Amino acid sequence: MENKRLENLFQKMRHGADYNYEQWLDSPEILADDFRLMKQSHSNVMSIGIFSWAMLEPEDGHYDFSWLDRLMDELAANDIGAILATPSAAPPAWLSQKYPETRRMNVLGHREPHKGRQNFCFTSPVYREKVNQINRQLAERYQNHPALLLWHVSNEYGGVQCHCELCYEAFRTWLKNRYGDLNTLNHAWWTTFWSHRYTAWDQIEPVDVSTHGLMLDWQRFTSDQALDFYKAEIVPLRQITPAIPITTNFMRPDVALDYWRFAEHVDVISWDSYPRWHQTDDVVTGMETAFYHDLHRSYKQGLPFLLMESTPSVTNWQGISRVKKPGAHKLTSLQAIAHGSNSVQYFQWRQSRGAWEKFHGAVVSHLNSSDTRVFRDVTQIGESLEKLSAILPSTNKASVAVIYDYENEWALNNAQIPRTLGKKYQITCQHHYAPFWQQGITVDVINARTDLSKYKIVIAPMLYLMGKGLPERIEAFVQAGGVFVTTYVSGMVDDSDLAFLNGYPPALRRTLGLYSEEIDALTDEQQGVLELCEGNDLNLAGSYSFHEYAELIHPETATMIAAYGSEFYAGYPAITVNNYGNGKAYYIAARTDDELLADFYKSLARAENINGALSVDLPKGVTAQVRETENQRFVFLMNFTDQLQMVDLGEAHFTDQLTGSPAADEVTLYPYDIRILSAPIP
Ligand code: GLA
Ligand code: ZN
Repeated sequence: MENKRLENLFQKMRHGADYNYEQWLDSPEILADDFRLMKQSHSNVMSIGIFSWAMLEPEDGHYDFSWLDRLMDELAANDIGAILATPSAAPPAWLSQKYPETRRMNVLGHREPHKGRQNFCFTSPVYREKVNQINRQLAERYQNHPALLLWHVSNEYGGVQCHCELCYEAFRTWLKNRYGDLNTLNHAWWTTFWSHRYTAWDQIEPVDVSTHGLMLDWQRFTSDQALDFYKAEIVPLRQITPAIPITTNFMRPDVALDYWRFAEHVDVISWDSYPRWHQTDDVVTGMETAFYHDLHRSYKQGLPFLLMESTPSVTNWQGISRVKKPGAHKLTSLQAIAHGSNSVQYFQWRQSRGAWEKFHGAVVSHLNSSDTRVFRDVTQIGESLEKLSAILPSTNKASVAVIYDYENEWALNNAQIPRTLGKKYQITCQHHYAPFWQQGITVDVINARTDLSKYKIVIAPMLYLMGKGLPERIEAFVQAGGVFVTTYVSGMVDDSDLAFLNGYPPALRRTLGLYSEEIDALTDEQQGVLELCEGNDLNLAGSYSFHEYAELIHPETATMIAAYGSEFYAGYPAITVNNYGNGKAYYIAARTDDELLADFYKSLARAENINGALSVDLPKGVTAQVRETENQRFVFLMNFTDQLQMVDLGEAHFTDQLTGSPAADEVTLYPYDIRILSAPIP
């Protein structure tokens, strides 16, 4: 393992849960059951202390580690690793009362009361100091404890907005560093619009959605400030326990944080995944979940990640949450492993008796029994993971990447364009990802700052914001032989959210061989037709539909692959390709149906000699993912449908990694089934 710090953690596939021992201190019989059941379920890791501040520091400066000592010892005695949290996500009531400045302020200038969790100001020096003190205590006390495996810093940071004077001051300092003087800022934000020019820094308040540059910078600042807080949190941990790795649990990307920047400062990525299984089409839910796993793997390329939280059954916050159908727990847990996780972990080990999460799913429910469907499902995962050690050092290798970029998403969300309703940026990225997932082709989900040179195909749907240097990097990628695909609503603004003049940035215009003149927006009810041109570059034929967005473009050196077949712009180009240097750049000018994307990318993958995990066509809803070491391939074959499916493995001879027996040439997949097949690499 490249990163020495991770050796211990990744000695085994990890299996475990968030464990709230401190809620049961007066029930020793429950605690005894816990350790017995942990062993029975083949758990080897527990995340502890996440919401324990009030129990660890009951009064300002008075610590009580007695219960945590017992817990750590008990874990070590049972050979279960501790993922020890810093408790900053939930301050105790005395702290909020004694130091009101630590409480967040809302946009109207009112301090929030002490309630819930994640309710503090990231800027407050007092809060940072109190966190530093308790983190230091934890690190000093447990630095040599045999159970200590990994730091779990705080819990689910978010880019939450605090409107207190301290945050505003910090924002203005951030702006001074970025722009230097107000003239530069006024130009970047185009503040002459609606008479918004600033003449003093303290006039700047991040409350004006009509000034796009301001809101984009505020978003960047709040993300940076959360990161700054995290960096302050880990100072004592790094100092006292330099050999212990650090993570903080990420979430799906809708929390206003640029996780790419966090990724540089954690040793291992971990994330909390809560898909809505069995509510809509599980094939679509499976694809979306795969997209997020790939995103989390891509944050730190070449390293495994951790599935820090997932529910073993239901959630309590989704409005509707269905229990998992037979097979689904195994499929959805091992899906994470397929995409590069080296753990399956749950929220939560045991259901709490009271308060907000008492009916959230858990490994051990209020029944306090191992004789439950969920406990058996969990145990089966524990047993399976023990048979997968050979997979630990393997990685997922992608030659295709989809750019899904946070700053772009923030800017696009603020933008008023011809179709502001339902821009669907994230979903659009998933629609461009889905055809590869269905074919079993590995995809990295990257951001616009990632190096493109290692990929054969880079897809950038709706890349509205193109920051400094990006058009040139795209140009260099294509010149060197790369295939670049982009779509409508791309290349419209720069880093400051200022529109580009004279068409696209010059490097992009040369690479695409075209410029865009107008965007037509269709209503929800309207649809148009696209016709493929004869003899086109990708051998596509027939007609497809488009909806919502249709851009009117002018090819300069690009040639037409498809034309619009409806509206006054029938005959105008709708899909083009530009041969440029040694590569190609495709432009998809309209939001097409999924069939077009499936056929387009299938043809493109073939043209670029990119193969799926198996050399056979997979039935719809069945997919495969590959992890490989230097001499072994592991193919995860997954059925996201509720139907029996047959997959002919063709010539390949595989061993079933979970049973150790040779796999049949034709694999029978039951509803929600998963098989892990291995074969030596010749
Ligand atoms: C998040 C939190 C957990 C818990 C779960 C419930 O992921 O990190 O503490 O609240 O949600 O699903
Ligand atoms: Zn604040």
